[in-house]
Amino acid sequence: MSLTYRGTDPVRLSDDRKSIIAIDQTKLPGEVDYIEIKTLDEMYDAIKSLAVRGAACIGIFAGYCMALLAGTYKDQDSDSFYEKLKKDGDYLNSSRPTAVNLSWAIERQLALVDTAVKSGISTDRIVDRLYSEAVAIHEEDILMCMKIAEQGLSLLNDGDGILTHCNAGALATSRYGTGLGPILLGRERGYNFHVYSDETRPLLQGARLTAFELVNAGVDETVICDNMAALLMKQGKIQAVLVGCDRIAANGDVANKIGTSGVAIIAKYYGVPFYVLGPYSTIDMNTAKGDDIEIEFRDPDEIRSLWYEKPMAPKGAGFFNPAFDVTDHSLITAIITDRGVLRPPYDKSINGAMSGKNRGR
Ligand code: MRU
Repeated sequence: MSLTYRGTDPVRLSDDRKSIIAIDQTKLPGEVDYIEIKTLDEMYDAIKSLAVRGAACIGIFAGYCMALLAGTYKDQDSDSFYEKLKKDGDYLNSSRPTAVNLSWAIERQLALVDTAVKSGISTDRIVDRLYSEAVAIHEEDILMCMKIAEQGLSLLNDGDGILTHCNAGALATSRYGTGLGPILLGRERGYNFHVYSDETRPLLQGARLTAFELVNAGVDETVICDNMAALLMKQGKIQAVLVGCDRIAANGDVANKIGTSGVAIIAKYYGVPFYVLGPYSTIDMNTAKGDDIEIEFRDPDEIRSLWYEKPMAPKGAGFFNPAFDVTDHSLITAIITDRGVLRPPYDKSINGAMSGKNRGR
């Protein structure tokens, strides 16, 4: 499998391994600005402020954070080394609750520490292992995105109109991305897709981030507001919807950027296939159904004033700002993972993929 697409890596370890270098996604597309992150508070703030965002990217970032933090405790005895790192991990995990990749990566790193401590390995060597594990998480994500891109592309046709919601490209993951993977891979192979990106109020990720990535990759791209999808589908301009995901429950319900569920309902009405794309690390077998997923609520100022010179609503108006919603599994045509294209009934296909069976299509 060749990795030709070299999209932007949103996070990476510095050469001296003392900090994490991240693109500040809040400044895109106007400025491509890199921030250097060293301390626990800077790590928490980077996730909370959305400088580092997108489910898989947050997971990769958390893997590096845990390695960096462990380095600051390496002179402690092994019990307090573990306890301090666990406390930091819990704090980091509280920054954003919906995307499972955050807790998944933190738990993966803590499990490594736990096993190593019990085997009597020195804290110095454990820190080295945590760095290697963080790089492994990152490299696995690159390969998973590539596999997802291949699987997704096999379901599309040259000339298709594609709608995507929010940003599920290289900025939210690694290289090919998830929701954008088939589009970017198709572009390399000579497919001509026309892509519509929902701008996704209130944070404009479709306009700011997806359009930025697709235009840079030479894809034919049109930005639309969230409320324009139905018109395009009615006009027959959309042949498939591709979205990423922040958490997939065991029954196939999917949490993703607010508005995803509405797009899925419209797609079902107009008979347009609705595909969710994500790696196995976004499947949470401990969450039985969508209702059990905690939805993050964000600052009302993101709606009220963030993008305007002055507030766009009168004083006294209330604001409701959930960052995510849950799409019912009955609306999803297929969940495209690195472990194959999963079809309904999702409780069975997801269970098969996660238990190692049914890894083909
Ligand atoms: O609030 P964000 O920008 O982190 O939300 C991102 C999304 O909802 C993406 O679609 C999702 O993370 C999937 S891409 C890995």
